[in-house]
Amino acid sequence: MKRQFSKAVVLGGVLACFAAGAMADDEDVIKYRRNVMKAYAAHMAAAGAIVQGKVKGSPAGHAKALEATTKDIAGMFPAGSDFGETNAMDAVWSKRAGFEKRAKDTEAKAAAFAKAADGAEAAAKFKDLSESCKACHKDYRKEQK
Ligand code: HEC
Repeated sequence: MKRQFSKAVVLGGVLACFAAGAMADDEDVIKYRRNVMKAYAAHMAAAGAIVQGKVKGSPAGHAKALEATTKDIAGMFPAGSDFGETNAMDAVWSKRAGFEKRAKDTEAKAAAFAKAADGAEAAAKFKDLSESCKACHKDYRKEQK
């Protein structure tokens, strides 16, 4: 009896360590994706000022950065990263197919914006991308806390 009890205590301790480890990882994942999203917003704001003619410059670098960092948006939302300091709705996980579709759409729009670069299409492709970001937020992001 005594032996069995101590085994249970050891097992419990091991499981608790795993749980603590998993939580720390999830917090890092949440922080990471929120930083990436902020980077998207900064590049969009910078590129927007250029394509709208408010400042001189080329949107190409911003578009390339967006293309390079939007390769796997859904991958930044793994199972288990739904608790803590996050504004992601449960739908990110419970309506996964729709979420992944939105992510793919943004990935394609970012690539199209990068392809347009400094060309005549840049403003239109920028707008397409901006609308694609918003479409996902409408269905999958809570009001900002
Ligand atoms: C497939 C869905 C999806 C796409 C596409 C998407 N986002 Fe997000 N975004 C989210 C979700 C969900 C959150 C909340 C993340 C969290 O709090 O864990 C978020 C958060 C954000 C935030 C808040 C970051 C913070 O915590 O301060 C900004 C800003 C943002 N997104 C900008 C963008 C921009 C700009 C684009 C387009 C280039 C974009 N997002 C594309 C789903 C998406």
